[in-house]
Amino acid sequence: MNSKQNYRWKEMTMGTCYYPEHWKEELWAEDLDRMKEAGISVVRIAEFAWNKIEPEEGKFQFDFFDKFLNLCEEKKMKVIFGTPTATPPAWLTEKYPEVLNATKDGVLYRHGARRHYNYNSPVYRKLSARVVEKEAKHYGKHPAIAGWQIDNELNCETCEFYSEADSAAFRTFLKEKYKTLDRLNEAWGTVFWNQTYTDWKEIYVPRTVLNRGINPHQHLDYYRFLSDSTLKFCGMQAEIIRKYKKPEDYITTNGIFWNVDNHRMEKECLDVYTYDSYPSFAFGLDHDLKTADDLNDRKWTMHLNEVRSVCPHFGIMEQQSGANGWTTRMEGPAPRPGQLTLWAMQSVAQGADFVSFFRWRTCTIGTEIYWHGILDYDNRDNRKLAEVKDFYNKLKKIDAVCGADNVAAFALIKDYDNEWDTQVDMWHRRVSEKSEQEIFMASELYHTPYDIVYLQEDSKVCDLVQYPVIFYPHPTIMDERRAALLKKYVEQGGTLVIGCRSGYKDMNGRCVMLPQPGLLQEITGSDVKDFTFESPAEEQVWASCEGTRIEMPLFNDILEPLNGAETVAVYENSYYAGKAAVTKKELGEGKAFHFGSTFSRENLSWLFGYLGIKEPFKELIGAPDTLEVVLRAKEGKNYLFVLNFQAKDTAFTLHKKMKLLYTGNIVQGEQSLPAFGTAVYEVL
Ligand code: GAL
Repeated sequence: MNSKQNYRWKEMTMGTCYYPEHWKEELWAEDLDRMKEAGISVVRIAEFAWNKIEPEEGKFQFDFFDKFLNLCEEKKMKVIFGTPTATPPAWLTEKYPEVLNATKDGVLYRHGARRHYNYNSPVYRKLSARVVEKEAKHYGKHPAIAGWQIDNELNCETCEFYSEADSAAFRTFLKEKYKTLDRLNEAWGTVFWNQTYTDWKEIYVPRTVLNRGINPHQHLDYYRFLSDSTLKFCGMQAEIIRKYKKPEDYITTNGIFWNVDNHRMEKECLDVYTYDSYPSFAFGLDHDLKTADDLNDRKWTMHLNEVRSVCPHFGIMEQQSGANGWTTRMEGPAPRPGQLTLWAMQSVAQGADFVSFFRWRTCTIGTEIYWHGILDYDNRDNRKLAEVKDFYNKLKKIDAVCGADNVAAFALIKDYDNEWDTQVDMWHRRVSEKSEQEIFMASELYHTPYDIVYLQEDSKVCDLVQYPVIFYPHPTIMDERRAALLKKYVEQGGTLVIGCRSGYKDMNGRCVMLPQPGLLQEITGSDVKDFTFESPAEEQVWASCEGTRIEMPLFNDILEPLNGAETVAVYENSYYAGKAAVTKKELGEGKAFHFGSTFSRENLSWLFGYLGIKEPFKELIGAPDTLEVVLRAKEGKNYLFVLNFQAKDTAFTLHKKMKLLYTGNIVQGEQSLPAFGTAVYEVL
């Protein structure tokens, strides 16, 4: 069998998503020729086409994709072949309704949409394995194939599963984890409200209960179980494909979605990770008008940071090329001239070396007739195709950037236990969502980029020490292993910053009877004497540090430094005026800060400055906060991306001599970018 690899694109590559089954066969050759002419060298196909392979149960046919793949070979077009399990055939769901997923109330999702199956049905696993095996065996060695996509967007549409097969599998998962019911009852705190289980049969995936009264500990395990189910389903397919694929071909899937440990999925099942990027979701037609203040126009950078965390050199399987919507939803308007290139370049700036546009031509049938592609229904050349060609020219000019690493000023630390616990903890969600959004905002406004690092079971201190500063904003759940890792990081010279509401839960999400921040106290030397949400009846809370006023929004830990720690800032108002708001402790070569509140662009302006990480590229560029500035570095060379998300010309200054890679011109001093313009420089 082929072994798992860490796949990397060797050159900047452009692709598109194509559905041969949606078009008359006579169009295929012309489409492929036009794609090639535009610079497209890869098409992703087949991910919803189960019927084309297995029109009846157990009857397999390959001629349709044989024909298309042979044509691709002739035209020198490479292919990413998708497994079809996101859309089971009607014959399958009709005969085996147990494969269907259900709502929390147990109502089955019927045939007609996609992703309506569940991962745990033994029948679905068997039939999925069989169709994947047939495809991989038949097409695995085809010379046109370059890669495989597993399913489509695992855990999109819904990331919760409530079928009977899921309850059965949940019981097995829990038996393996806890061995005895006593242990499970203890972990879930079932003594509360008389939930004690006396037989495994009594346990289900969460079901509808009265008045929002859920068991949060059960939910935390439920999310872990969902992740496990997704990984098993993905892993099963990857293992089959690996038996038949060519060694150089990669296995991927397109994410990122919820209730799945994407990092483990990448590590255990895939060779490379791809992402579907639709930036106009952030300011869509269907939502309340968001203010420019939230930087929604460039919010996708936040998501791309996540993707880079999963896989530093990722690809974009679906990059937005037109307006977004279904017949049943409205999402984004058509990208303005320049915006298609801007969004694609945003992906590249954040680490993508492969960009594939969704889709070649807008579908003329079905619910997605408003999810526009490069070409419109009329199939004529248009401004989007012209822009794709222009993007390709730019992409080729920056080929040297392929494989370059992103340069970050700090790391944002996360972990899946806290992510999932937050989903059922309103108190915590309020705080953690605000901090995460604001850290992104501050990073953009002050040109201070960050990486995201997830603490995993096998995380080591070397994953952290490359960052001078790490923010672990509100890790409510903490265990000894993670606390020890953080301690080592600090002792070895790192700077750790935690926010309010840290360290007060164990791995089951139960509150620990320790002074906060619990297991982190040894590192931070801070003692939380009292804590509170800001009162809506009072004015905004501030702290001060050597004359600087610092916003302490939403929630406040009222701190006291223990032996060896010191107060950095004190509260100015509310009933805790005069008490410590920010503390610092030196430990080994490094230091740990406890910032007793949520983070905001306002307080991060101070904190980034105080920590010495603000605007790390200021010797290279002076840019207004409306421009995004990103640096990728490779083999001693630095590549500076400047992206204009504004609909108007924007000026900036280059402080050093640089080569504008699009033209080869050497430039320095005053520059400007047109509306939605981009530039990539090699720093000389
Ligand atoms: C993506 C999906 C595509 C297409 C697109 C538009 O999420 O992977 O298959 O459906 O959305 O809805």
